[in-house]
Amino acid sequence: KRIVVLISGSGSNLQALLSQAEAAQLGGDIVAVISNKAEAYGLERARIAGVPTAVLSHQGYADREGYDAALMALIDGYRPDLVVLAGFMRILTPGLVRHYQGRMLNIHPSLLPNYQGLHTHRRAIEAGDEEHGCSVHFVTEELDGGPVVLQARVPIFAGDDEAAVAARVLVQEHAIYPLVVRWFCDGRLAMRDGQAVLDGKAL
Ligand code: GRF
Repeated sequence: KRIVVLISGSGSNLQALLSQAEAAQLGGDIVAVISNKAEAYGLERARIAGVPTAVLSHQGYADREGYDAALMALIDGYRPDLVVLAGFMRILTPGLVRHYQGRMLNIHPSLLPNYQGLHTHRRAIEAGDEEHGCSVHFVTEELDGGPVVLQARVPIFAGDDEAAVAARVLVQEHAIYPLVVRWFCDGRLAMRDGQAVLDGKAL
C-alpha cells in the first residue's frame, strides 16, 4: 500500500510511522511527506529516512478551495491508497475530504467526541478531568467528527501542566497510529456507511 503523510510541525507521529515502516511493520510504504510549512521539522525526519518531501505553502492561493485543489493534485501525483494526517494544522474543504473519503485518517489529542478543535490538553486540565487521551479516526466533513477507530487513555494527575499531559498523550499517539495504519494496509479496516469497520465488525 502507498501512504502519503501530511504534516505541519515536529512530526513525532510521522517518526513513529517511519520507524515502523523501516522495520517492515507498517504494511505499506510511505511514498511522500507533504507539509504546508517549509520549516516543519518532520520534513527533516522524512529526508533522513529517504522519503520524498514536498512543501505546499498557502501563500499565493486566494482561498481555501484553490489551495486544496493544488494539494489534492500534489497528493494524487503520489497515487496513495491512504492519506495520513499527522499534525496537519489546516482545515480541509469538504471537496477534498470527500475525495479521500474512507482512505484518510487523522489523529486527535483527546478522547473524542470530547474536546474537538484546539488546546485539548489545556481544556482537559481546566475541566478537572482525571482521564484524557488520543483518538485515531477516519476523516469526514465534520471537523474531528469522523468515526473513531482506536483510542488510548492516560491519567491526568494533580499538578500536571499542559506539557506533561501532552508528552504523556504523545507516547500513546505513537503507539496507536502505526497500529491503525497497519490495519488499514492489511485490508482489515475500512469505512462503510460512515462507520469504521474492523475485521468485518462495526467499531
Ligand atoms: C499531535 O498531538 C496530534 O495529535 C495533533 O498534532 C500533534 C502533532 O504532533 N493532531 P507531531 O507533529 O506528530 O509531533
